[in-house]
Formats: sequence, structure tokens, C-alpha cells
Amino acid sequence: MTRRSVYLDHSATTPLDPEVLEAMLPWLRDHFGNASSLHAWGRRARVAVEEAREEIASLIGAHPSELVFTSGGTEANNAILKSCCVESRLVDTIVYSAVEHHAVIHPAEALAEQGFQTAVLPVDSYGRVRVEDVARWNRPRTLISVMHANNETGVIEPLEAIRAAAPDALLHTDAVQSFGKIPVNVRQLGVDFASFSAHKIHGPKGIGAMYIRRGIPFKAHQHGGSQERNRRAGTEPVALIVGFQVAARKAISQLEQRARRMRQLSQLLRQLLHERIPGVLFNTPEEGALPNIVNITFTDAHALDGDALILGMDFYGVAVSNGSACTAGSMQPSHVLRAMGRSPAQARAAIRFSLSHETTEEDIRYAVEALERVLQPMRQRRSMGHIPAGEPSETP
Ligand SMILES: Cc1ncc(COP(=O)(O)O)c(C=O)c1O
Repeated sequence: MTRRSVYLDHSATTPLDPEVLEAMLPWLRDHFGNASSLHAWGRRARVAVEEAREEIASLIGAHPSELVFTSGGTEANNAILKSCCVESRLVDTIVYSAVEHHAVIHPAEALAEQGFQTAVLPVDSYGRVRVEDVARWNRPRTLISVMHANNETGVIEPLEAIRAAAPDALLHTDAVQSFGKIPVNVRQLGVDFASFSAHKIHGPKGIGAMYIRRGIPFKAHQHGGSQERNRRAGTEPVALIVGFQVAARKAISQLEQRARRMRQLSQLLRQLLHERIPGVLFNTPEEGALPNIVNITFTDAHALDGDALILGMDFYGVAVSNGSACTAGSMQPSHVLRAMGRSPAQARAAIRFSLSHETTEEDIRYAVEALERVLQPMRQRRSMGHIPAGEPSETP
């Protein structure tokens, strides 16, 4: 087995597209003006920011005035949840799914500590919210937050049905993982708020956006200057915004080809895993998921050490993840897989493969071979009586 470098962690972050970098460079090197300045340097920067806003807004079916730049998906989620409760006083209840990213769960928990009411929507065994559960929360002064697609499993949530079931509530969706992988049209989805991030679509880190439906009296969560029509203070990072624009343009104009390619490779990956890895369980369904994520666990997960699996794959040069990158390194089992009914051991032993349009068939074949080689000695040691640290008595 000749060693290769295979990056299959694109849901954590993606490499910067060289064309995106090229587009950003003049704004880092030459055109350094502050977009709020009145002089020529400032006006040039302002034009770039507003052109980017117009283009990105059109790519999600929004009006430019509905798009507010943020430092990324985390800030967008925080600003929307917190402003809805505190600054804008639009709601007193937040209802969110059990499989949300921590960038939704943790601000919601912080708001609960401040006295706002919160409720968690359970999910089915594939991590989908049940529409009948949502219907119970159809009432004013309530914000429902359900992600468009899950970052660990790729499962797509039934947003349009959720909207139909709760017409009186405000609806937010975290579209960080879905944007660029499947069509995202805020009007069609019927959402009032949405969150986006550039670094998941081969754009730069540190830039994202929030969609705020026109007519919603949204007040800034972050205070300071009057940038972004008083909805988010701070000097606009022009180079990052231009990078986001070019990455989004490419992702959407090539969406079909990219998705087709990723879907084919995901199917090959599923097939090889099924054929070559005994005891594999798929956490990602074949239908109704993003084209680029395949999440698995194992029937004998109690005998496997999740971190050792990831480090073993890393030893062979393969980058995969065992859940949300933000919790990687901690020994907490994935809250997403737990909510889907997987055991703590199965959640801990899960592996997320996340592909890009640049992934090759060789990458996939190599990754499966690496997994075979990582698993074999682990399972052998187990059959010889060695029990890994963790939960020796747990049943799968
Ligand atoms: C679903 C989801 N929401 C939010 C985020 C956070 O986005 P950012 O890294 O831009 O802050 C991530 C990143 O992992 C994500 O996957």
C-alpha cells in the first residue's frame, strides 16, 4: 500500500480555491480602504462589498438588503438566536432540534440560563425532526431553529414541511452545510433567518452571512459602528467578502456537476465499506442526505476506540472526523448520533467521511483500504482478550 494523503474532512473545512485566493489578493494588497470611508479608497471598497452582497443574495433567492455579513456560521447563529430574544425582543421561546450544531445549542442554552424558555425537538433514527412535533410549537413569539442539513450525517431536514406546520412561529435554518451542496432558496424554504459560512465551500475562513427576512425588525447583537444597516457592527473585511462571493458563485454555478460527482463517489464509498468492512452500520441514509457525507459506525463499536480509529486513519494519511470538528478531541460521544438512538460506544466509534468535488476514486479506494488496516489489529486485540479503556461493560 503506497502511502497517500487523502483529505476526507470537507465538512470541517475545505481548501481555499486558487481562483478565490486570486480574487482576494488585490483587496489585501492594494485596495485597503475602509468601506465606510467617504474618499475614493473607501468608495472602491464599498462597491466591492455591495456587489458581493448583491450576488450572494441572488444565489440564495434573497434581496441584498436581507443579507448581513458576519464572521461565519457561529456568529450568524449566535446573533440570530440572541437578538431574537434579547435585543429585538421578538420571541420568548426558542425551539431547536436535538441534532443542531453547537453554534445553535450553546447559545440556546445560554438564553435558557437567562430565563428564556427553550425546548428540544427529538429526531428519528436518521436524525430527522418529526413535523408533528414542530406543529405543537406553532405559536407567535417562538423561534424554531432547525438546520437545513446535518454536519455529521448530511441528513436533510424537512424544512418546507416544518414551515407549513408552524406558520405563526419565526423559523431559522443553519444552512452552513447545505449551501453549495443542494439548492438553498430562502423564499422556497420559507425561512425568516438563515446562516451561511464561506469556508465550507472553498472560500476563506472568518466570513459568513445571515439572511434576515425583509420586514423583521432585527436589532444588532454586536454593537459599535453602523455597518450592515445597523445590524452588525464592525469594519467589513473586504477581501474575505470578495472571497466568499467568488466561492459562492463557483459553488452554485457548478452545483449540479459537483453534486453528481460527489454522489457517485459517496455511492462507491458505501459499496466498498459494505463489501470490505464487516459490521459496518450507516448513519447516513442513501436518500435524503447531502451528496458528500457518509457517516458510519460499527456493530462491535464497544470494542473500538473512536479516537484511535481517527488517529489510525491519520497514520495512513487519511483525514476523517468522528463528528463535529468543534467537539473533536473531547471524549464526548456525538450528541447527533446519540439523539438518533445510537449507543454511546456507537456514537464514539463513528467515522464521518466528507468528500469534495475534487475527491477521486483512488482517494476512496485508499481510504477504505486504510480503514481495513486500522480495524484489523484492533479487532484482533479484542478477540485476544484486550479490552480498550472506556466502556468495557457496555452493550452495542
Ligand atoms: C452546521 C454548522 N453550523 C455552524 C458551523 C460553524 O460555522 P463557522 O465555522 O463558520 O463558524 C458549522 C461548522 O462546523 C457547521 O457545520
